[in-house]
Amino acid sequence: MRILVLGGGGREHAIVTSLVASEHAPEVFCSPGNGGTAALATNVSITDADPAYIAEWVEVNKIDLVVIGPEAPLVVGTADMLAFDGVPVFGPKAAGAHIEGSKAFAKDLMERHAIPTGGYRVIYSEDEAAAYLSEAGAPIVVKADGLAAGKGVTVATSTEEALNAARAALDGYFGPAGETVVIEEFLEGPECSLLAFTDGETVLPMLAAQDHKRAFDGDEGPNTGGMGVYAPVPVVDKAQMAQMVAILEKTVAALHSENIPYSGVLYGGFILTADGPKVLEYNARFGDPETQVLLPLLKTDLLDVVLATAQGRLHEIELEWREDVAVSVVLASDGYPGSYTTGKVITGIEEASKIDGVTVYHAGTQLRPDGTLVTSGGRVLNVTAIAPTFAEARERAYRAVECVSFEGMQYRTDIGLRALMAAGEG
Ligand code: GLY
Repeated sequence: MRILVLGGGGREHAIVTSLVASEHAPEVFCSPGNGGTAALATNVSITDADPAYIAEWVEVNKIDLVVIGPEAPLVVGTADMLAFDGVPVFGPKAAGAHIEGSKAFAKDLMERHAIPTGGYRVIYSEDEAAAYLSEAGAPIVVKADGLAAGKGVTVATSTEEALNAARAALDGYFGPAGETVVIEEFLEGPECSLLAFTDGETVLPMLAAQDHKRAFDGDEGPNTGGMGVYAPVPVVDKAQMAQMVAILEKTVAALHSENIPYSGVLYGGFILTADGPKVLEYNARFGDPETQVLLPLLKTDLLDVVLATAQGRLHEIELEWREDVAVSVVLASDGYPGSYTTGKVITGIEEASKIDGVTVYHAGTQLRPDGTLVTSGGRVLNVTAIAPTFAEARERAYRAVECVSFEGMQYRTDIGLRALMAAGEG
């Protein structure tokens, strides 16, 4: 079987790693891939903005399955184009990916189907924003409706700050993504991601995971794409897990009832409020860095799961998970999430990978023709460790981090600490 994986981050390196380990021994291509996928798959360069070009490449290269990692190719209809050509594809079509591509669509869907989420208003002008804010007060959250590379969210502590954020978005700061703005209730409680495989009928939840969005220890500093993650999440009890699963099932059923078949991963970003889990947002894909802890814990052959999902026979699959826990630490370039420089030589990955339970996933790395591995992005590496306890997983992960070096390397030192305390290991 010949598989094409679209994307080039740590998530895609984790996907490629699991696919290559499949007992079906597929041949894997990755576009654009990174320095890590280069060692396992053939990196190719196909523009992910053009579904027609991807479909043509897939046909010419006799690809049997396409796995779409990031949201951008999903929202522009890559899965639609491939499905039209009869190619099995893992990832929703554009109508389903709209659940991530438009926050207003997601909120309206939840309202129509009584899915628990915070109160909100969809805003098209500054006057509407001012009127709603005077009614709703602060703290409050302002979001650009469309995809804004994770930068379109402002948690405002005053209505003035919220109005400024709404005005900036409406004035074009995020381009077309901010032409519509969603202002929503600030929900209080721990954040938790629950991802599920679904073929539009069957919904198979993964383990709960917890991302660390802020740049610095203690959840200080600016928001990032994620600086580390762990799974499972000890603060999630059985009742909360069941409620989150029920919400994901209800969401898939809601889409189905509106003639939107949804297939791939449905990612629920939840806040565990005092009134139960509420949806903060949906993503239409695997999370990054959540995938870098979920896939190492998955015992079931990933290729069987993605193929069954793509072919609408997910009911045949039962997911099996290791008893272990996983912690992943993101190593980032100096200055990230602001501006940073690239091209820094990376050393020590081989030594880090020798530590029991450790896998180093590449995100922003590039293998130069002379064999030198250099940084090529903000988030550079994800050092994942699995172990029976969070204390051991953290010890392994941070011992591995000590082995790795590149100029300006920055990382959080508290990834998994909350889990360790909540699990009673502290
Ligand atoms: N971990 C956040 C995301 O994947 O969007």
